[in-house]
Amino acid sequence: MAEHVAATPVLGLGQWAYDRGGFVRSDVPHLPLGTQALHYGTGVFEGIRSHRAASATVLFRVHDHYERMLRACRLLRITAPGSVEHLVDLTVELLRRNNHDGDTYVRPLAHKLSLLPGTPPGVGLTGVSDAWSITSHGFAAGRLAGGIRCAISSWRRSSRDAMPAQAKITGGYVTSALACDEARAAGYDDAILLDGLGNVAEASTANIFAVLGGRVVTPPATGDLLPGITRDTVITLCGESGVDVAERALGPAELITADEIFLTSTGNGIVGVHAVAGRDIGCGTTGPLTRLIASRYDDVVRGVGGAHPEWLTTVHLG
Ligand SMILES: Cc1ncc(COP(=O)(O)O)c(C=O)c1O
Repeated sequence: MAEHVAATPVLGLGQWAYDRGGFVRSDVPHLPLGTQALHYGTGVFEGIRSHRAASATVLFRVHDHYERMLRACRLLRITAPGSVEHLVDLTVELLRRNNHDGDTYVRPLAHKLSLLPGTPPGVGLTGVSDAWSITSHGFAAGRLAGGIRCAISSWRRSSRDAMPAQAKITGGYVTSALACDEARAAGYDDAILLDGLGNVAEASTANIFAVLGGRVVTPPATGDLLPGITRDTVITLCGESGVDVAERALGPAELITADEIFLTSTGNGIVGVHAVAGRDIGCGTTGPLTRLIASRYDDVVRGVGGAHPEWLTTVHLG
């Protein structure tokens, strides 16, 4: 069984942040108590990783992250400071300024801020100003490499007709927080959430894959789950490695009898799940197919072997 895993992935906050139109010292900005997103959850965010190599750091699929975020902003009527390219440029500039020693986690956040003059108080998306920030944090890689144990949560993943699943909306993460809290209180590392029909949706902040008889199965992207960029990367890498992937409904009974299970997310990469709901998965360790895909993924995000240069953005540091 995996040891219980500490819950704090993010290390130091970089000295500089992008905040509402300019670069500022990251310890200075503050938000008014009336910040609308704080009250109503009307914000969207992304999590982007960069990996340090010599005098450069390499961002992984940063354009895809900002495309997803801009679509989420349109949903919440938040005006972005510019195009995907402009946001990538801001991120590159931020990483140059912060010059972290190792790998980083970049957190863009866009949200509703203050009521515009003449707008009556209340919940809404118009008549409210917007704010955009980007911070970068040092990040400890491989934190969950030893595998994790998951509970099956009593909290269900919201249906996409109640909470849009394709956007990382701040308010929606209350379900993840409740599920994680419940799982950790019971001694697990993370929670797997079912959808309203009782099928497996995803983990608290990661997509899920099961290996069943040599075939990889993952719930469909059209279900009640965030269609992750890492999920998409893994499906591509499986195809290139000759591993068959089926995107189909997955029940909890199939899950607990799977040969292997792994989670995928930008923050933690590919993480082996060693037990679910108190039952060992396979031999209770990270299985061979998970190890194969994890090693392919680690190479691709660091540019090792030269595969998929279109996913990499190199930031030359001073
Ligand atoms: C709810 C949820 N599902 C899945 C993921 C994985 O998405 P990605 O691979 O794009 O990081 C995340 C990432 O934070 C998430 O919050």
